[in-house]
Formats: sequence, C-alpha cells, structure tokens
Amino acid sequence: MKAFLYVCLMILGLVGVATAKRRGPVRDKLPVTLYYEALCPYCREFVTSQLLPAMMRLNLFPFTELTLVPYGNAKLDDAGNVVCQHGVDECELNAIHGCILEHHNITQSFKLIACMMRGKKNRLDRCADRYKIDVGDVKKCKATRSVNDILAKYGQETAKVSFNGVPAIALDNIYDANESEQLSDNFDVIFCAKYKEKFNKSLDTCP
Ligand SMILES: *[C@@H]1O[C@H](CO)[C@@H](O)[C@H](O)[C@H]1NC(C)=O
Ligand SMILES: *[C@@H]1O[C@H](CO)[C@@H](O)[C@H](O)[C@H]1NC(C)=O
Ligand SMILES: *[C@@H]1O[C@H](CO)[C@@H](O)[C@H](O)[C@H]1NC(C)=O
Repeated sequence: MKAFLYVCLMILGLVGVATAKRRGPVRDKLPVTLYYEALCPYCREFVTSQLLPAMMRLNLFPFTELTLVPYGNAKLDDAGNVVCQHGVDECELNAIHGCILEHHNITQSFKLIACMMRGKKNRLDRCADRYKIDVGDVKKCKATRSVNDILAKYGQETAKVSFNGVPAIALDNIYDANESEQLSDNFDVIFCAKYKEKFNKSLDTCP
C-alpha cells in the first residue's frame, strides 16, 4: 500500500513538473491594485487616460497582477447597506464591475470596465459588443444578487487600506500616498521604474 502511494505521488510530481515546463517560465509580475469607484471623476480619468493606455500600449498584462477593487469611499450605513459617494447609481455600477470581475479574467474584465468608465451611464451592453464578450453571466449576477452582497468582499479589501482619496493605487501590494499620487499622473513611468528596481530588468515597451 505504501509503495503504491509513493508511486502515485511520484507520477503526480512528474506530471506537475511537465505541466509547469510546458507553460514556460513564470514571468516576473509587479502587482498593481486599484481602489476606485465607478463615478469619481479622477478615477474615470485615471482608468481611461492612464491605466488603459499603459496596459494596452506597453502590453503590461503579462508583467503585472492587476487587481481592481470597486468600492472607493463607499461606507456601510447603520442598517448595513452600502452607501456610495456618488449615490445609488454609483453603487449599481460598482456592483456591475464586481460581477464582471467575478465572471471574467482580469484582461477581459479590465477592458469592459475601462470602456464602461468612459461614460457615467450603464454601458455594459455597448462595451460587451465592442469587445465581443458575452456578459450573460454578469447580468445574471447583478439581477439575482443584492448590491450589498456583491460589494461585501470589496468593502473588506478596502477596509484593509487607509487611503486619502480615490483613485488609490498600490504597487507591489503596498499603498503609499505619495507614490499613488505620482502613479495617478504618470502611471507608465512610475510602474516601469519600480519594475526595474524590483526585478533589475527593463521592459522592452517601457518609455
Ligand atoms: C481570458 O479569457 C479569454 C476569453 O475566455 C481568453 O481568450 C484569454 O486567453 C484569457 N486570458 C488569460 C490571461 O487567461
Ligand atoms: C514620491 O514618489 C516619487 C515617485 O515614486 C519619488 O520619486 C519621490 O521621492 C517621493 N517623494 C517623497 C516626498 O517621498
Ligand atoms: C542587474 O542586471 C545587470 C545586467 O543584466 C547585471 O550586470 C547586474 O549585476 C544586476 N544587478 C543586480 C543587483 O543583480
């Protein structure tokens, strides 16, 4: 019995190594976390004119672990309901972003969310059309669950960080108010510098 188990474990181990080899080397990734809310003007500005162009033009997706936290300055009221800084519409949009993030990988999610943030209304259908992404599951998520429920985990993530305002941007899982400020104006330059500093490697696409 014992020998049999060893053989099984060995085979599993070999399969594991083979799979890892086939996927190629894991690239060095610099984590970026964005705390934001759907309707704050500076968040919309940052996502559409800083982060999106950087992710696309510099092709940063393979070199970062991007995390979006759509909650921002929202708070819970005494009854435990989420109250958003820009009102009910913003909570609805944050919740749609939350559902997008639950049902699509970060590349697809970010494209949809950045596209939505070009406007203040719900542009989900338009953006889904644009990128040919099926958002049936996103709509179902939003239609069948409460905003409180969808946003709860983003509220918990946000509570771990004390930021001055949104957008709040953390590099390498550390929020620094000054760095966040610099990132919001020059995301590509600061990201590239930090990447070089951490991995001693310049990205080809960096300015
Ligand atoms: C994300 O999902 C899309 C569609 O399912 C897929 O084509 C793409 O390869 C995925 N990207 C990653 C990085 O997993
Ligand atoms: C603020 O951040 C920038 C970029 O990361 C850095 O060059 C600068 O020294 C920082 N300033 C302070 C006061 O920490
Ligand atoms: C960084 O990379 C350069 C060239 O690739 C190498 O010469 C240097 O020793 C490296 N520095 C560190 C601290 O690893």
